[in-house]
Amino acid sequence: MIAFDEEKRIFYLENKEMTYAFGINAAGLPEHLYFGKKVAHDLFFGNYFRQGRNHPAAYPENTENAVDPSMVPQEFHTLFSGDYSEPTLMLDFSDGSRRLDFRYQGYEILPEKPELPDFPSLRSDGKSETLAVVFSDRDVILKLFYTVYEDVNGITRFLKIENGSREPIRLERAYSFAFSLPAGEHRDIGIPDDYEAVSLSGGSGAEANISRTPLSRGIFSVQSNRGASGAGANPFLAILRKETTENSGTAYGINLVYSGSFTLKAEKTVSSLLRIQGGINDLGFSWKLRKGESFTTPETVMVYSGEGLSGMSRAFHDLYRNHLIPKKSVASPRPIVINNWEATRFLFTREKLQRIIEAAAGTGIDSFILDDGWFGKRDNKESGLGDWFVNEKKLGSSLKEFISYVHSKGMKFGLWFEPEMVSRDSDLYRAHPEWAIADPNHKPLEVRSQLMLDLSNEDVISYLTEQLDRILRENEIDIVKWDRNRDLTEFYSAGLSPERQGEFEVRQTMGFYRLAGNLTKRHPEVFFEGCASGGSRFDPGMLYYFPQIWTSDQTDAYERTFIQYGTSLCYPLSAQSCHVTESPNRRAKHFVPLKSRFDIASLGAFGFELDLSVLPEDQKAAIPLMIKTYREEEALVQKGDLYRLSDPFSGNYFSMELVSKEKDAARITVMKGQEFFNRSECRIFPKGLSEDAVYFCGELGKGLSGRTWMNFGFIPVFPQGDFLTQVYHFRKTEKKSEIE
Ligand code: GLA
Repeated sequence: MIAFDEEKRIFYLENKEMTYAFGINAAGLPEHLYFGKKVAHDLFFGNYFRQGRNHPAAYPENTENAVDPSMVPQEFHTLFSGDYSEPTLMLDFSDGSRRLDFRYQGYEILPEKPELPDFPSLRSDGKSETLAVVFSDRDVILKLFYTVYEDVNGITRFLKIENGSREPIRLERAYSFAFSLPAGEHRDIGIPDDYEAVSLSGGSGAEANISRTPLSRGIFSVQSNRGASGAGANPFLAILRKETTENSGTAYGINLVYSGSFTLKAEKTVSSLLRIQGGINDLGFSWKLRKGESFTTPETVMVYSGEGLSGMSRAFHDLYRNHLIPKKSVASPRPIVINNWEATRFLFTREKLQRIIEAAAGTGIDSFILDDGWFGKRDNKESGLGDWFVNEKKLGSSLKEFISYVHSKGMKFGLWFEPEMVSRDSDLYRAHPEWAIADPNHKPLEVRSQLMLDLSNEDVISYLTEQLDRILRENEIDIVKWDRNRDLTEFYSAGLSPERQGEFEVRQTMGFYRLAGNLTKRHPEVFFEGCASGGSRFDPGMLYYFPQIWTSDQTDAYERTFIQYGTSLCYPLSAQSCHVTESPNRRAKHFVPLKSRFDIASLGAFGFELDLSVLPEDQKAAIPLMIKTYREEEALVQKGDLYRLSDPFSGNYFSMELVSKEKDAARITVMKGQEFFNRSECRIFPKGLSEDAVYFCGELGKGLSGRTWMNFGFIPVFPQGDFLTQVYHFRKTEKKSEIE
């Protein structure tokens, strides 16, 4: 709900538990007041530490009480305004001036959240109000949009800049949000290191490593300039109080609904406020707005938790499941796939594929995904991308016939695409070399031997839409796996004028969204999975179109515990596609038992990716029960509350718990990393149970109160060996025989 105190000009965006507040101060600037646990409507201005420069720049209206603008926490900051900290907005007027001075004009409360013209965004589903606050300077209108959610402690924000003047202007930076957190209470001599940043970084095959960094004076940033969100840095930043832990204390989570180059910054300003802001990465960015044109930034998600990092994760998960991931798929049973990639890579034959499919048929695996290599001339990574025509010789029949064979085995059919790419050795490139991204003065860099298509070019989007649409229309394809295996290197489009080249990367990302939107809209019956060399584009922008994303090409179950643990900081388990693969695995030579591989993969959208036809009989025989178990517990993965109980980054054990929303069932998965002789064991303390209810755990053979389970804990017992898992199921009971 949104309340406005007319007299004090303060906006309160609140739900049952949380308040986000800012007000229009005497100078007409949006002063950020508060973000956190719910407070009353009695906030006031100027509640920040004012020590600073001796002679601060003063707003003309306010010379009496001059305050250094770097010290005023605002909802956006501008360059050349006497504010020497990082700005949110930078723009050039045609007369060369870059001074900005946006002042308050008015506000509006919208019952429906407006859709963003060029970017995906969260749905408000008619239940959440949106506040639009208007500012202006020299005929340029700046609108700040805020939506507050009733069901989750979070808000979303974006900005719109409209050029109402006759002359063109050029945006040099247009972040999506800014707000500040106050300095902590312990102001000793020096700079209080009261906040810490948590971010996710890594690389392909080692995504989502968690780092926690104390914030001292200066700027901490996470960013990508590769034209995709990237595995190098996820567009996520959490700000924690120093004392915050996994389950207690204040945590703020920020996530951009954007899949291109981004930046998120946390700056300790001179007054020790922590200024947090971010959006599109402005390295190389500029955007020209002619008279009457506007630019709307991508959306930012901001959640508040009083229950540490895990509360932050649950807020993100609920927000994305309730308001972002396509409604029709979010809670319906997901396909349980067998994918041929790790078994065959490019070199499959019809016979090999059939062997895998026959072995899967009847086990409960309900879908077969034909991965890379089915089209054009594609027996390795050197050629074929862009030629989305089936290679009938390699497949041994037409695509239609192959699909009906798969269907006849009782399985759905899925197909791999990498639509944004082209190989130099392809018919598409030979016909349209100008569609590949290249700088006119240099040979384009190749990554994985491929080039990228220019999605800022409408012709390319129409062509790709028609090509993929044709395949989806002509064939009964149930699932699409949408991959992307390289990043941008040339930020240039032949279709853009020299002065608009700074728009290229954002237009490329917009083009991808348009293409994904065209195809998902035209084919609502098809289930889409995202992928980018594994998790190199795992972000909320993708989840708007694709309900799940291939989490990593690292599929060794032990290594996956780190990746899935890190990814869960922000993204629900149901969004993480996880497969049981061969062991020892290509990328990590660990010997991981099948049970462990199943237990870890079933902490996500579950499937298989190995040659089932050569699996030992006893392992093959175990698959139907695995699938039955997964289906029985799928609702926990899709709807449950996640508690991370043991952190593999800081110890030998990994553990995650899922608790049903009704708190009547819970499941705890534990993996022991390496076997160590005579070392301490781990103790597990379940979380999120009803204190006074009794829960029976079959594996432990005990029925105890939630209170006892959560405080007394239990010790998982493992046989000897590395990479072993144990799973414990807790179910509410009133049965005498189960209660001790
Ligand atoms: C990427 C994906 C893999 C597979 C290959 C095919 O690496 O992450 O799952 O689809 O491409 O080339």
